[in-house]
Amino acid sequence: MATKDEVVVVLDFGGQYCHLIARRLRELGVYSFILPYTVKVKRLKELPIKGIVLSGGPSSVYEKGAPKLPKAVLSYALEEGIPMLGICYGHQLLAKMLGGTVESGKEREYGRATFYPRRRTGLFEGLWEEETVWMSHGDLVKDPPEGYEVLGTTSTCPVAAFGSEDSHVYGIQFHPEVAHTPCGRKVLGNFLDITGAARTWSMAPFVEETVARIKKEVGKKRVLLGLSGGVDSSVVAALLHKAIGSSLHCVFVDNGLLRDNDRPFVEDIFSKNVPVKNLHIVDASERFLTALKGVTDPEEKRRIIGHTFIDVFEEKAKILDKKVGRIEFLAQGTIYPDRVESASTSKHSAKIKSHHNVALPEGMRFSLIEPLAELYKDEVRAIGATLGLPRELVDRQPFPGPGLAVRCLGKVTRERLDTLRLADRIVREEVAAAGITKELWQYFPALLPVRTVGVMGDARTYNEAIAIRCVQSIDAMTANVYPFDWDVLRAMAARIVNEVKGVNRVFYDITDKPPATIEME
Ligand code: XMP
Repeated sequence: MATKDEVVVVLDFGGQYCHLIARRLRELGVYSFILPYTVKVKRLKELPIKGIVLSGGPSSVYEKGAPKLPKAVLSYALEEGIPMLGICYGHQLLAKMLGGTVESGKEREYGRATFYPRRRTGLFEGLWEEETVWMSHGDLVKDPPEGYEVLGTTSTCPVAAFGSEDSHVYGIQFHPEVAHTPCGRKVLGNFLDITGAARTWSMAPFVEETVARIKKEVGKKRVLLGLSGGVDSSVVAALLHKAIGSSLHCVFVDNGLLRDNDRPFVEDIFSKNVPVKNLHIVDASERFLTALKGVTDPEEKRRIIGHTFIDVFEEKAKILDKKVGRIEFLAQGTIYPDRVESASTSKHSAKIKSHHNVALPEGMRFSLIEPLAELYKDEVRAIGATLGLPRELVDRQPFPGPGLAVRCLGKVTRERLDTLRLADRIVREEVAAAGITKELWQYFPALLPVRTVGVMGDARTYNEAIAIRCVQSIDAMTANVYPFDWDVLRAMAARIVNEVKGVNRVFYDITDKPPATIEME
């Protein structure tokens, strides 16, 4: 298989852009993923490894307890001639471990800098004499290790890059993985050329590779998949369907927190386009709404919903155990951003919100299968397209696992959900009528738990308000508010106030992410 014949691993030293490095390498055609910096040589030896990247990180190499590359890993890479590239903290760490000197910079350097490559060959092939790069560091390398050349400087860093064409070990102080370093792609591409890894990674081999791995892992055992009808779980359904056919049991839970078209959409697509053999619809709306009664705290809503989902899956599994044989695995459409924002990737990242499929209860009976856990949404969409899933599914706007509960701010009641559902339909219809769906990442209303005074048909109203959220994004990590055409927005607001009982005012949320998140809870 082309993809994983050759891999370049990224060792995670806690840097916020670590995952972006792996993503960039994949974009450049080489399979890449992240491993903790504490990785054992044994694990590396099992991999068809062509190169190692050391990520950035918040520590200082002289700090007590600062993360270090295990000596055995360094020796192994040097002995085997495996090319290494240290970025930022990784650069300083390699310099220090190989005998160079690192010292504390006078002040932290954060932002754009001009980089002067000394040679425009090898790692810096194709660069200009001056390149804008993105820096974020306190310490800096003062002297390169013996036997290593200074490959570039900036006004503050005498050794902004060092390396050796004999050992193929390189360090760069700047971040090539971020968009603010325009030559970054070239530098990473040059490093891949140095590793000699074949540029064969693409979504098609990923599909084959993943299907083969699932087949091997699952064998004749059975898998239950929580299928929501969103892009991620649908792509997992298609992958599993390809891998294990009728051993896959898809469970669509109607939790009472869905939009009005969610259930028919799933029933339709998964009977026609992805004809999974076993689609089970479980109506658990009463149960979810009872569990959520009176709850207003967003994290508590997520916890309750996550646990209720697992309870429902476990009960369904028990029924299936008797009918078709024991269900061993639970598959989920978790993707990388779900994990970052739920802080399960590294102890350094902050918890933003517990995406329900990450916050699983302890002691769950299933083993987990999450084939998309390393990918971003746009990569998942590309896989969906490769699998031949219909565009209406692949291009579907994301919908959170906890559904309308996190858009029904405050108490979640049937009545408020119905109000929100109707407003949601109107927003979708108006966006579709304006022909702008392709420009948008998400567009939805949220019901606010505030009442304001209005006047309708000469009478006073004292009703709740709807906030419309409409954003553009590439990967949901950041998002921009959509600059609506005023007439479209006004028409949408007018329809909501006229058609949705109990709503007398509409707001448009004009906050980007960050500082806001996309969902309001
Ligand atoms: P936020 O609100 O964190 O959302 O900016 C980023 C993206 O993730 C979706 N989202 C969720 N998806 N379970 C999910 O599966 C969740 O609990 C959840 N919360 C937010 C959100 O719709 C957006 O696309």
